Amino acid sequence: MQIKWFDELDSTNDELLRGISRYDNLSVVAAVRQTSGRGQRGNKWLSAPGDNLTFSILLKPSALPAGEFMSLTYLATLSVKTWLCEQGVPAMIKWPNDIYVGKRKICGMLVENQLDGKRIAASVIGIGLNLNQTVFPGELVNPVSLKRLTRKEYPLRETLEQLLSRFDFPALDTPKGRTALWEAYNRDLFQQGLPCRYRDLLSQAEFTGTIKGVTREGRLLMEDGKSFSFKEIGYIL
Ligand code: BTN
Repeated sequence: MQIKWFDELDSTNDELLRGISRYDNLSVVAAVRQTSGRGQRGNKWLSAPGDNLTFSILLKPSALPAGEFMSLTYLATLSVKTWLCEQGVPAMIKWPNDIYVGKRKICGMLVENQLDGKRIAASVIGIGLNLNQTVFPGELVNPVSLKRLTRKEYPLRETLEQLLSRFDFPALDTPKGRTALWEAYNRDLFQQGLPCRYRDLLSQAEFTGTIKGVTREGRLLMEDGKSFSFKEIGYIL
């Protein structure tokens, strides 16, 4: 895979989205510093310049049905989690697209898709992985970095190459591959099987629930049979 490094970008997702026709399938864009890093739910992604990985991968899948867009999240979260576990860190996937170690967030992802009828024409998978940052702004709720956990320093370029080698992109191309991704994603989710507190975002009511898994479409499924979309439930940590 070709990685294009920039010293500074507004956002690596925006760079790929702007150049979507110019960039090939499997292009990777990484930035030492993002000036307008974007997160989920319209939040900013704050990352100390030069300390962490902030990068995006462009995929132009040949035959990925629009309804299976969550396969992209399954692939990306599993790959990062696997690599972190290889570094000796007990990383878990926090549905839908965060990676946590204990109750702390080490990685966030922003997947942005472009549809062509009923298939995904292009997808930009943006990943922010905290590597070497040890001091975080107070506005971040529960951040952690790999260095905080292992006391080691991680070189950005080499680490990104190693991490990308864990992505099994061909799995996206077949129904069997996508089923395997979904099953692996479902295997050890953060708080799975444990009664924990959540908030129903529609009513704002707090409740205790136990995560059973995630439906193929990506809804969070609780042991009592209720399921939630991303906009419908929040974790209380
Ligand atoms: C989140 O947890 O809210 C998602 C964060 C995603 C951040 C990454 S950093 C690289 C890419 N470029 C962006 O502007 N956002 C994603």
